[in-house]
Order: sequence, then C-alpha cells, then structure tokens
Amino acid sequence: MTQIQHAHGTRASDSAEPAPWWRQAVVYQIYPRSFADADGDGLGDIAGITSRADYLSALGVDAVWLSPFYPSALADGGYDVADHRDVDPRLGTLDDFDTMLAALHARGIKVVVDIVPNHCSDQHVWFQEALRAGRGSPERERFVFREGTGPGGEHPPTDWLSAFGGPAWHRVADGQWYLHHFAPEQPDLNWDHPDWREDFVRTLRFWSDRGVDGFRVDVAHMLTKDLTEPLPSQAELDAMPKDGLHRTIDRDDVHDVYAQWREVFNSYDPPRTAVAEAWVSSDRIPLYASETSLGQAFNFDLLIADFDAEQFRRVVTHNLELAGRTRSSSTWVLSNHDVVRHATRYGLPAPERRPDGEPAVKHGMEWLRSGGTDPRLDRDLGGRRARAATLFMLGLPGSSYLYQGEELGLHEVADISDGERQDPSFFRSGGEDVGRDGCRVPLPWSREGVALGFGEASPHLPQPSWMADHAVEQQSGVPGSTLELYRRALARRREWQCEEDLEWLPTGREDVLHYRRPNGWEVVTVFGDADHAVSRPVALLSSDDAVGSRVVPPQTTAWIAPSRTD
Ligand code: NOJ
Repeated sequence: MTQIQHAHGTRASDSAEPAPWWRQAVVYQIYPRSFADADGDGLGDIAGITSRADYLSALGVDAVWLSPFYPSALADGGYDVADHRDVDPRLGTLDDFDTMLAALHARGIKVVVDIVPNHCSDQHVWFQEALRAGRGSPERERFVFREGTGPGGEHPPTDWLSAFGGPAWHRVADGQWYLHHFAPEQPDLNWDHPDWREDFVRTLRFWSDRGVDGFRVDVAHMLTKDLTEPLPSQAELDAMPKDGLHRTIDRDDVHDVYAQWREVFNSYDPPRTAVAEAWVSSDRIPLYASETSLGQAFNFDLLIADFDAEQFRRVVTHNLELAGRTRSSSTWVLSNHDVVRHATRYGLPAPERRPDGEPAVKHGMEWLRSGGTDPRLDRDLGGRRARAATLFMLGLPGSSYLYQGEELGLHEVADISDGERQDPSFFRSGGEDVGRDGCRVPLPWSREGVALGFGEASPHLPQPSWMADHAVEQQSGVPGSTLELYRRALARRREWQCEEDLEWLPTGREDVLHYRRPNGWEVVTVFGDADHAVSRPVALLSSDDAVGSRVVPPQTTAWIAPSRTD
C-alpha cells in the first residue's frame, strides 16, 4: 500500500509566491571555536569562518547556524553569554562579524545565530550588579534569588537538580541562593521581569538590523517559570503533567514571549526566522512551530533513533504529520554539538531502550567512558550507515540540519584526557557523563600541520592522528569520498527539490524503505545486509557506488532521479 503524506502548510503550487527560503533549507551548524582559526591562537574565530566561505559555498548549503560567538567565560562552550550584543574578543569584533555576514550573503548563504534566553553568564553585567547590590535589591529581581533552608539557610531552597548534574542552586557570598538549571556560571533569568523582555527585543533587533536572517533559540521551552511559594520538590516537579502549566518547563505562557518576538521578526523584510530547540513531547512541538510563535522547531527523533528502517519510518511519518498541524515544515537532524556523532553511533551497538522507547543511556556514552575501547567501534560500518542515513534525510521534505565535520565522515573523538576536557557535564557529573567535547574537536582541513589546517597553533581540543585521513584536502575532488558525496547530494537536492510531500512505496522487505517525492524523485534505503533490487536504475547518486545499477547494496541509500531529468 502506498501512503501519501501531505506535510506542508504551504505547497509550492498553493500560490505563485516562492516558498520562504527556510522551509526546505540545508542549514550547516558551525561551532565557531572549532571551525577555523584565522588568528592562530588555537581557538576558531569569525575571520576563520570568512576564510572558509568558498568551502561552504562549494558544499552547497543554504544557510549556516552559528553556535554562540558572544563574549563568554566558556563555562558551557559559549552558552554562557556575557553580552548578547557583541563578539567575544578572542573570536573577533563586530566588524569581523559584518565582514563574515557579507561574505556569506555574497555567496547566497543565509546566517542564523544562536539566542540563549533561559540563562546568561555569571559575568553578565546585570548579574554582576545583582551580586553587588545584595539581597532584596531590584537588581536581584532580574534573576531568581531565594533564601536557603535549614539553620542559617545553608541548604538550597529546593532539591532541584541541574541538567549538568548537582544542585540547581548556587549560594553567593551574602548567603542567598540563585537558580541555575545548567552550570552555576549560567544563572536563570527571571522572565517575569520586563527588563529581560525589552533587552531580548533589543538583541533580536541588533542582529536583525545587521542583516542576520534568523535565530536558533536555545532551550526555548524553559524561559518562563511559576516560582510562587511554596516551591515544589524535584519529585513533585517530575510528577507534574507537562500540559502547559508545569511550574518550570514548557509553559504555555512562554509563547507570550515569542508572540512579542514574532512582531520583531515580521517587522523585517523578509521576516526573520526562528527555530526552537524545545525538548518537549511531540504533541507540544506544534506550539513552538506555529506562525504566531517561533515558526519552526527541531525534532530530534532521527538523532535518537537507531539505524533501523521501522524506527526511521515511524519518525518520518509522525513528524510530517506534526508539521502538517502548523504551517511550518519539519526539521531533521542526525548530529549536533550535543551528541555523539552519527558515524560513531551507527558503528556501535544500539543502546538498550526503556519501555517508552527512549534510549536507556545516551548512545555512545559507555564507549566514551571507556576512552573509545569498549564496545568496539566499527568505523567502516558506522561511516557507511551514516552516509546512508544522511542521504535518506536529505531526500525528506523539510529542512535538514548538518553539523560541521559530518560532511568529512568524522567520528567522535573519545581519547581526550581529563585535563583537556572542557564540558561542564563532565566536571559536574564527576566524570559519569563524559560530556560533549568529542564532537567539538577542531576540524581537519589539511593532512599536515600543527592543527591539520585548522590554524597555526595547537588546537584548544586535541585532534587525534586519524583525523588527517578525513581532512578536507584529503577528500576534495576524490570520487567516492564523503565530502564529494555531500557536495553532490546538496547540488542534486537543490535541483530536484519540490513540494513538501512524500509517498511511501512498498518494498516487500522490513529493512528497506522507499519513498517518492511529488516530482518522482525516489529515495531507497537498505538498512539491512542484503542487496535490494529496484525497478528503475539508480541514477546519479548513491551513498555507495551503486550508480547506474538496479541494485541497492546493504546499508546504502540511492536516489533515483525525477523522471523529467532521467
Ligand atoms: C542547549 C545547547 O545545545 C547546549 O549545548 C547547552 O549546553 C544548553 N542548551 C544550555 O545552554
């Protein structure tokens, strides 16, 4: 049986207007400190991105999303923002930013920047003022300060836990405690305070006026909180239904903030875009993706799925249906700066799953804890599956987010010594959670050199020697390389892109998926270990070398050209 899925709010044929750029964009995530280091201090920078503008253009991406590049003490890789309207001096200046923006725009590449509104850095001027001003001051009202419990208030106000491990409260010199859902250096903002509402509007305008095209909104589901006393315990919080009235997470009133932001976005021509990073149940995602809120939301379902036909199909069907409930398009992600790279995940045994289907442990965590020795990583299988999964994703209706280095087939780096680690999750969990440094290691651009072409100094995280085999220089122009596959795939995708529909075709096999887009572009993925025959020859593109044949090999995706270009 075939099944047609209409996932779109806006079909190309619905109106004469071209669809907005973001609906089916390929967005390339840059983690600026690890992309390219132009000034040779071991840390990637804005000028480094400019120097690689031609690379991004040749790759064929529609947009880049920059993880935070703002002034930061780097307690959480830049997600501890000390000033939302400046560039970290170690990464450059606002002039460098403008130069980069112009270089990317000149090549037709849009720029999306990260906005971090749940918390700021403890170095932020308002937090420093709050510390100085003392208890009961208006400056402290901008954050969440409370008295402690127990004799002398030496215990935190509640037993809440932070996402990086340990308590979610930190005590300051005068004895009060402040709330931080992430690291202690990341105080939560009080979104009931009008100052933050005004300040973020100023920030959105500041970057929009410079020409930034959109925003990725960090932990978009956490800003507003009901902190009326008495505060619940962690167990009570955990037991509360997540129905929009939860005390700290995914509250309906967060959309009042985004309604105000929407006015800002829509006051520009073209309207600025936003995508929510919202870890909420899927029935709540459409609220963030609605036209009156942020307009688009990530779904991380592919990122937590195993390389498994049934799981992939379920994820796609479900998310296209969700996107269809709004006028948004779906997003797809296989890797980002928070998870083990997908080439590595797919080369390791699939994690055990809880009864609700969620992985019992973060995929790859045990392997990371062992320093990359146990279980054994099958690099070739992981890389092969990753290429197949990527081509499967890139054929889907909606926008695809790529993470820097995946186009080089990079694996996660496991052998980072404790002394070299940077991620607060490692330190706050006492090493239990090894953290995310392994996917943030600077990119290899060339085979040789102190930093494999990343820069002229030893990089801020160590690059293992195997990275040289993945260098851009090593793969550029080499048929069959992962880099060339990505370049060809993005070029074809641009050429073949069509209405946001998908139709599943029968395959007669549980481990093979086959879908067709409205213009006849077909995508066949063999997840299992046996060849699969197709009726039309696989044209032009395959994650293996099956081009021109009628057989799709194991762990391979093949694209069959739309009939008009066959
Ligand atoms: C989500 C970001 O992706 C992650 O890197 C960061 O640590 C947290 N938000 C806190 O900002």
